[in-house]
Amino acid sequence: MAFPEAFLEELAARNDIIDVVSGYVSLTKRSGSNQFGLCPFHSEKTPSFSVSSDKQMYYCFGCSKGGGVINFIMEIEGLHFPDAVHFLARRAGMQVPDEGRDDEAVRRRERILRANREAARFFHGMLGEPAGNPAIDYINARGISGEMVKAFGIGAAPDTWSALTDHLAKKGFAADELVTAGLARRSGKTGGIYDAFRGRLVFPIIDVRGNVLGFSGRILGDGEPKYLNTPDTPVFHKSRNLFGIHLAKKSRAGYFLLAEGNIDVVALHQAGFDSAVAPLGTAFTADQARLMHRYKQEVIIAFDADDAGQRAAGKAIDTLEKTGIAVRVLRMAGANDPDEFIKKRGKDAFHNLIEQRETHMEYRLLSLRQGYDFDRDQDRLNYLKEAEGLLAGLNSDVELEVYGRRVAEEAGVSLEALKTGVKKRRTQAKKQSRRKVEQEGTRPSRAMQPGSRELRYTNAYSAMAEQGVLRLLLRDPALYREELELEPEDFSSPFLGRAYGVIRERIRAGKENTPATLSPLFNQEEMGQITRLFTQPENLTDAGRAITDYIAKIQTEKLKQNPEDNLQDIYANYRKTKGVEQDG
Ligand code: GTP
Ligand code: MN
Repeated sequence: MAFPEAFLEELAARNDIIDVVSGYVSLTKRSGSNQFGLCPFHSEKTPSFSVSSDKQMYYCFGCSKGGGVINFIMEIEGLHFPDAVHFLARRAGMQVPDEGRDDEAVRRRERILRANREAARFFHGMLGEPAGNPAIDYINARGISGEMVKAFGIGAAPDTWSALTDHLAKKGFAADELVTAGLARRSGKTGGIYDAFRGRLVFPIIDVRGNVLGFSGRILGDGEPKYLNTPDTPVFHKSRNLFGIHLAKKSRAGYFLLAEGNIDVVALHQAGFDSAVAPLGTAFTADQARLMHRYKQEVIIAFDADDAGQRAAGKAIDTLEKTGIAVRVLRMAGANDPDEFIKKRGKDAFHNLIEQRETHMEYRLLSLRQGYDFDRDQDRLNYLKEAEGLLAGLNSDVELEVYGRRVAEEAGVSLEALKTGVKKRRTQAKKQSRRKVEQEGTRPSRAMQPGSRELRYTNAYSAMAEQGVLRLLLRDPALYREELELEPEDFSSPFLGRAYGVIRERIRAGKENTPATLSPLFNQEEMGQITRLFTQPENLTDAGRAITDYIAKIQTEKLKQNPEDNLQDIYANYRKTKGVEQDG
């Protein structure tokens, strides 16, 4: 009995947890996006039952019950999982998918992917037809090689209204399917459909598994809009994908190059920089950062040199840093984008740029500097103040030494004075984050031990690190890397080990870990423990290092385990099972 995950997500989305819980509990206190009330599952006088509208979860700090909306209904109505699902489906007026039949949503996705694949083939084939001549001219004018045209599957959308829709209709696709896929549009006047891409150079957008999700169409020459992208569809979410990722993920380079435009990506690959990708016409997102972090440990930003590009780069740095991936930035002198730079100066020059890539701290300090006139004392002071703030964010003392020395020399102050300023900032920041933790009412030591004996931790020290790993992976799946070499057997707690195994499998398969999708996989008490991990604050700024630290702890603890202790555990367990058998 398995419900499709897409359905469970939808079910949870349509049953807002605050609404549902409010039907049973009066939520009287609010703190941030959390609301508190008296726990319906144990008796208490002060509210420790929290519901988060952000996370769509509940958790009781008193009795450790917790989970998503489905778990809540199971618990409070005393229902088994499938019945709770039906209960909520009824509440939201949703149809529960028939288990015997192929899930409708899955089928529709597959049809769209098939239509897209067929469309990509059609566009690419057009390059060999007279209708593709203008596109061929444009490809030549931009200096794109035949090899790249093939590798990226570039094609041409003929400048007519129905070339593609006619072709796909012949292949058996319905008009509605083509509209849903974003390949065709419906005319408001006639109600008929027409090609969405016309007279454009077409780049298929392909995901890491090789699915054609959609298309980017560039106008052949100048004009508006320059790019036309597939709108979001059941298979395509522009904020979650990157142009070129299917090729770049295979690159042997240790880094991704992040460019702004499709043409830049193609030009970079053509010059041998085969780890280039680009966002899809929106600001760079956290989802895209996590996608990159799944494959590589470093991103080199090569955005356009104009103001808009530099502003976008600044934001992308922030987003990337939060995932713990190393960020470097290229400064292209004398050219606006990588395509132009390579055309003007050649690939060796670009290779040199990569060699000289700036750390994001160098980049930020330099960018900051540009706004100040160092001949003026006030400017130097202001610069110092801002620079101190940046340096305070550094996690390593070595880095502080290196960059601090540079800043101190530039601004003409002693390194010691600068360091004192930076340390003061750090203390302030620490105090602030501690206060925040206290406000959320979650002390890490509290409720550390699960209630039931099965879930008890034998090695609390290791269990803390094990929880840390899970907490990080739940917050940011991109932190998972095969090289971490952590196995469920390394965990001291069998429950946490199993949870890790499940979560890892899901991350590998590209599945989301949400309360709705996890709830069929764990029992109620386990869900409570998992939910608690979500409630604990975790600083994600240096999460990459945090996770390796946790893993080191787990592995050291495992090594420390005395073989004799092990034997005793085994005997204890044996006695216990015997006892249970005799009782029963
Ligand atoms: P060239 O100007 O030919 O070098 O194109 P480019 O591929 O380098 O693209 P550019 O740097 O101008 O734009 C960067 C990205 O922004 C493109 O790849 C698109 O994803 C997006 N973009 C640019 N223009 C438009 C537009 O008019 N509409 C939309 N939706 N996106 C656009
Ligand atoms: Mn460009």
